[in-house]
Amino acid sequence: MELLQKTHLRVQVLRIALAFLLVALLSSERGESRKAKIVTTSFEYSAINCRAHSASLTDFGGVGDGKTSNTKAFQSAVSHLSQYASQGGSQLYVPAGKWLTGSFSLTSHFTLYLDKEAVLLASQDITEWPVLGPLPSYGRGRDAPAGRYTSLIFGTNLTDVIVTGDNGTIDGQGAFWWQQFHRKKLKYTRPYLIELMFSDSIQISNLTLLNSPNWNVHPVYSSNIIVKGITIIAPVTSPNTDGINPDSCTNVKIEDCYIVSGDDCVAIKSGWDEYGIKFGWPTTQVVIRRLTCISPFSATIALGSEMSGGIQDIRAEDITAIQTESGVRIKTAVGRGGFVKDIYVKRMNLHTMKWAFKMTGDYNSHADTHFDPNALPEIKNINFRDVVAENVTIAAKFEGISNDPFTEICIANVTLGMAVKAKKRPWTCADIKGITSGVTPPPCDLLPDQGPEKITACDFPAESLPIDMLELKQCAYSMKYVGMY
Ligand SMILES: *[C@@H]1O[C@H](CO)[C@@H](O)[C@H](O)[C@H]1NC(C)=O
Ligand SMILES: *[C@@H]1O[C@H](CO)[C@@H](O)[C@H](O)[C@H]1NC(C)=O
Ligand SMILES: *[C@@H]1O[C@H](CO)[C@@H](O)[C@H](O)[C@H]1NC(C)=O
Ligand SMILES: *[C@@H]1O[C@H](CO)[C@@H](O)[C@H](O)[C@H]1NC(C)=O
Ligand SMILES: *[C@@H]1O[C@H](CO)[C@@H](O)[C@H](O)[C@H]1NC(C)=O
Repeated sequence: MELLQKTHLRVQVLRIALAFLLVALLSSERGESRKAKIVTTSFEYSAINCRAHSASLTDFGGVGDGKTSNTKAFQSAVSHLSQYASQGGSQLYVPAGKWLTGSFSLTSHFTLYLDKEAVLLASQDITEWPVLGPLPSYGRGRDAPAGRYTSLIFGTNLTDVIVTGDNGTIDGQGAFWWQQFHRKKLKYTRPYLIELMFSDSIQISNLTLLNSPNWNVHPVYSSNIIVKGITIIAPVTSPNTDGINPDSCTNVKIEDCYIVSGDDCVAIKSGWDEYGIKFGWPTTQVVIRRLTCISPFSATIALGSEMSGGIQDIRAEDITAIQTESGVRIKTAVGRGGFVKDIYVKRMNLHTMKWAFKMTGDYNSHADTHFDPNALPEIKNINFRDVVAENVTIAAKFEGISNDPFTEICIANVTLGMAVKAKKRPWTCADIKGITSGVTPPPCDLLPDQGPEKITACDFPAESLPIDMLELKQCAYSMKYVGMY
């Protein structure tokens, strides 16, 4: 049965391929320089699942000239390949070339794989971006209340979906959107580069993401997520180009990522004010490992400001930041409700920072005026250890909310080398409670030193997160496709 299906697919794909070969030959006869030929390629990588069926974008009429729109080619490829979901899944291969495209959706048991020399170019034609309603946990689009443009690569209600490659590129061509945003010309919120909603078992790996119109990677209402080996680059002045934003997600691993951006490198979220409280879907069990961040106006790792569904059990280790505003930042406000608790950070290396740590309760941007002034956030059990920094202007700004202090803060074995032009008072503290051990410069009175025997306090929980138990499979592919030269 499966063999028959496979043969059927081969015949069909070959038929489509031959049709395009013919078109390509005809157009080259008309004096164009492109030539088509059947190419064989093989590659391997580790993944949550390997696929039984593979096809190339060129089998569906894709043209990699940087000018022709491939939105329809992507859509028909995914729609065709979705029939193999229950027969071992499928993979769409994007060959070398520049593939202009608007938004398209993925399917379940599916892998999108980008060749090393493949570049997806996001279309600047606004009709290529369908509009979605606001996220239920936000109540409105962040840029504009009416809704949001669908992300470039989108998926909802999926299971087992992979976006990967041999470090291929996805270029959001964001300058167009940033300009429209600054001129307040947008009717809807700018698209993200990759967004997966209500999905389970997600892998996003080995890609370079450039110039996103807005956030880069946004898993939301999803679980069992691996983001690994991603390079994200956007101008440090570009608006809201956050790197990776797990939002109301569970069991997430972010590993080996390098991010230069105009906003937070990683921002953990869970909905906004009364909408987030009502939706009530927290982000829990996140591990962030070997992250390098450059973001002069934002945080290396931010928790919030949208945290109304709650944020719990976040672990970050081996984090490097260079010329970044802050190391770890908790942003919240009266009206948010929710919680940020059980946060563990160890082995951060920081170079040239405004604040090493920042936690404040005055992030007063609200979805609308209907937020509940009695909805106070609960911020507690926040742990930092084994941090080394140099050229720091302010060690920390810790300002809780009056009548709602941030509690159980624990800081141990932290050495912050202060800048020549550092502020005279390295720590500003209000409405907080906690302890320290082995911290330089000496912290504020609200964080009393417990003596050298507590220097190994503030550690991670002993058990690993379930996502760390997941073993990836080694997948090897060899396939034929129509290449254009
Ligand atoms: C990333 O690329 C490396 C080198 O090509 C490969 O060995 C690895 O399996 C890939 N990993 C993932 C998670 O895609
Ligand atoms: C996706 O799943 C959510 C949550 O289970 C559900 O509310 C929504 O209707 C589903 N959407 C689609 C398009 O199936
Ligand atoms: C991927 O490509 C980017 C951009 O060219 C480069 O900076 C990065 O080092 C590459 N990553 C790997 C693992 O080769
Ligand atoms: C303190 O932190 C440094 C730098 O991360 C590390 O090398 C050292 O082992 C730590 N000390 C203790 C007692 O854990
Ligand atoms: C220290 O930080 C300042 C900005 O606060 C920067 O101008 C300077 O170049 C940095 N010095 C070093 C040695 O990195």
